[in-house]
Amino acid sequence: MPLPPPGPDAHVLVTGASSGIGAETARALATRGYPTLLVARREDALTELADELRDRSGLPSEVHAADLGDDDARAGVRDLLRRDDRIVGLVNAAGFGATGRVVDQDPAELDGLVRVNVLALHDLTVAAVQAFVPRARATGRSAAILNVSSITAFQPLPGVASYAASKAFVQSFSEAVHTELAGTAVTLTTLSPGLTRTGFADAAGTEAFDRAPGFTVGEAADVAEAGVAAMAAGHRSVVPGLVNQLSALSGRLTPRTVLLPVVHQAMDWFGGRG
Ligand SMILES: NC(=O)c1ccc[n+]([C@@H]2O[C@H](COP(=O)([O-])OP(=O)(O)OC[C@H]3O[C@@H](n4cnc5c(N)ncnc54)[C@H](OP(=O)(O)O)[C@@H]3O)[C@@H](O)[C@H]2O)c1
Repeated sequence: MPLPPPGPDAHVLVTGASSGIGAETARALATRGYPTLLVARREDALTELADELRDRSGLPSEVHAADLGDDDARAGVRDLLRRDDRIVGLVNAAGFGATGRVVDQDPAELDGLVRVNVLALHDLTVAAVQAFVPRARATGRSAAILNVSSITAFQPLPGVASYAASKAFVQSFSEAVHTELAGTAVTLTTLSPGLTRTGFADAAGTEAFDRAPGFTVGEAADVAEAGVAAMAAGHRSVVPGLVNQLSALSGRLTPRTVLLPVVHQAMDWFGGRG
């Protein structure tokens, strides 16, 4: 069962809504008629987007500033998902990358990456599944989750090892839960974008976006549109764009002994080591 029809009581909570894919996903949802709850650390950016969404759609948009790497702040968002029965959708878009060899990296930064990309996504997904399934059973209204992964999920990537592994977790966990949810009125969709023009490159300290051929870099609005369409239909997963689909396929099928030296060199060239 997909995302239920839009309406004043069909709210969708979007993490990572202050920028990039999360912000565009909130715009795509508001355009379809869903009120939104926007989550990220930068309250000013969230407030600006909430004002824009209210002006554009005439629908409510609420702001919940929270650092999802912080246990207490994350518990606040988790409780919101459990308590607020207006919420029929969750989009986990918050996340960031870190480039460089593990030997050179700041352990605190990698810890933060795992907390946001893995722990927070897992925590909020579990809370949403455990809130949505009984609610859907009781009310007959369906609910949907969209987890943002990446094409880096499909193979190990020296140079962005922790980031790629965090997305491998997202992909594996989300596809498994999608299957567990069969027969319920709740769906979980995984969105796996390739390079996308957002604030990601600056946050990750990578030059990959400058060096990559233009046709391989997508726009956040297109990625968000693909994600919301797949979420609305209750699909298991979506990889937007042919180049990204080929990359995901080769990452899955190529033997690691062949793949790892090649991607190691490619990541060096792309500036994966920062
Ligand atoms: N851009 C790409 O090429 C690409 C490709 C594949 C997958 N992705 C994935 O797409 C998702 C969105 O990234 P993006 O490309 O849109 O990058 P972005 O523009 O940098 O957005 C990242 C979002 O995550 C939020 N965030 C980061 N740390 C957070 C924390 N501790 N607590 C709460 N929110 C936090 C940021 O908000 P605040 O800074 O306000 O907290 C921001 O809203 C990420 O999961 C990323 O891994 C991106």
